[in-house]
Amino acid sequence: MNDLSIIILAAGKGTRMKSNLPKVMHKVANREMLNLVLDEAKKLSPQEISLVISEDFLNFQDDILTEHADAKIKFALQEERKGTAHAALIGLNALEKPAKKILILYGDTPLIEEKTLLLMLDKINTGNALCVLGFESHYENQYGRLVVDVNGNLEKIVEYKDASINERQIKLCNSGVVAVDGARFSQFLSKVKNENAAKEFYLTDIVAIARESHLQCTFVATNEEEVIGVNSRAELAIVESIKQNKMRKKFMDAGVTLIDPNSVYFSYDTEISNDVIIQPQVVFGKKVSINTRVEIKSFCHIEGAKIASGAVVGPFARIRATSQIGENVRIGNFVEVKNSVLKNGAKANHLSYVGDSEVGAGANIGAGVITCNYDGYFKHKTIIGDGVFVGSNSALVAPIAIGDNALIAAGSTITKNVEADDLAFARAQQSNLKGAAKKYHDTKSSKKNKK
Ligand code: UD1
Ligand code: CA
Repeated sequence: MNDLSIIILAAGKGTRMKSNLPKVMHKVANREMLNLVLDEAKKLSPQEISLVISEDFLNFQDDILTEHADAKIKFALQEERKGTAHAALIGLNALEKPAKKILILYGDTPLIEEKTLLLMLDKINTGNALCVLGFESHYENQYGRLVVDVNGNLEKIVEYKDASINERQIKLCNSGVVAVDGARFSQFLSKVKNENAAKEFYLTDIVAIARESHLQCTFVATNEEEVIGVNSRAELAIVESIKQNKMRKKFMDAGVTLIDPNSVYFSYDTEISNDVIIQPQVVFGKKVSINTRVEIKSFCHIEGAKIASGAVVGPFARIRATSQIGENVRIGNFVEVKNSVLKNGAKANHLSYVGDSEVGAGANIGAGVITCNYDGYFKHKTIIGDGVFVGSNSALVAPIAIGDNALIAAGSTITKNVEADDLAFARAQQSNLKGAAKKYHDTKSSKKNKK
């Protein structure tokens, strides 16, 4: 939409977070709250986004610009917190060319959704000077209240601090999010005064200001969960759980079985196809995509992995970035896979570390096999061919390559490459001494009996 500019208020001090990190850089579902808001904002293709920040955010500007190179982002420094209208004005001034419609979002309200914003913008298209996002709260709270007339038009917003006893009974609360006619916004803001309980310039005053000029104002109502803001770690946890529940529902609706949904944690970017089964107690880090008919058994931690159809992972497996797990691969208990490719049908069923490796199709990694990828200074690669059988408790000292269909005898420490079809045997030879065990026991027990 080239007729839209977005202003995101993110200059909050976040004192209650008790953190060195700016509040909006705390994560929900593994992504910074501000980035979640920006992701959603970008779906509307605004011509510009201005971010109102405080001084403690200056170090993070580059991260944001790199992360959102596909958007035109301007930073607006609010040196002194004088209220939401003051912040919005600074944001507005940072825009090169304010568009026909302006949307104000909050960096600490990360669950806001595109579909709601579109509804609000539509109200501006149909002749309203502004549209506020409201919600009904069923808990005691100190949100601003939306005063609506008998025809459903928005008359004003009263801040809780300034509200009368009757106004405080109003159920419809202000989320803070507002869409406004871009041609009038600057004029509205110029009329805001700070004569109120908080001595702040309230953005909410623009409703009454617009009404004084007989302009029509309206609201869109959403559910409280979408607009819940974060001011403390406890609220961060609440928002996290709302986001997780939304993702759980989304996956189940898309045909993923979650045996115990509440015990499975996703990242904002997790991708899962239908007919995947996820057992209880599984955590997905960033950048995981799982194809159909995969089963993830209990107690797995998976991040940075692409898992092809039919694979079975776990229980108790850890897959780390950047890994590619082929079709019908088996990764069993206490197996760690890091930065490795396991081709179709490969198996590592028990107690192994597979790092910086390429494991060929149908290869079998026996119990307790370790790829020794690190020499204390550098990481090295292990290449295991198709159909290779690596016997249990072997160590493959990288850099190393094992040719197709080769066999590694159990308990070997392999330091030299093995060619295709060869058998490598790298452990001490065994010698059996005829009757020596019996002789040993006889001597020892007679000695003990004499004492
Ligand atoms: C605001 C609304 C209130 C609404 C509530 C919803 C006003 C006057 N009140 O109240 O009606 O119910 O949000 O959560 O708008 N900010 C700045 N610079 C400032 C002041 C605020 O960037 O000078 C940012 C904050 O970082 C925050 C947002 O604006 O993200 C809201 O500010 P806050 O002070 O939390 O407003 P509330 O009193 O909660
Ligand atoms: Ca607030």
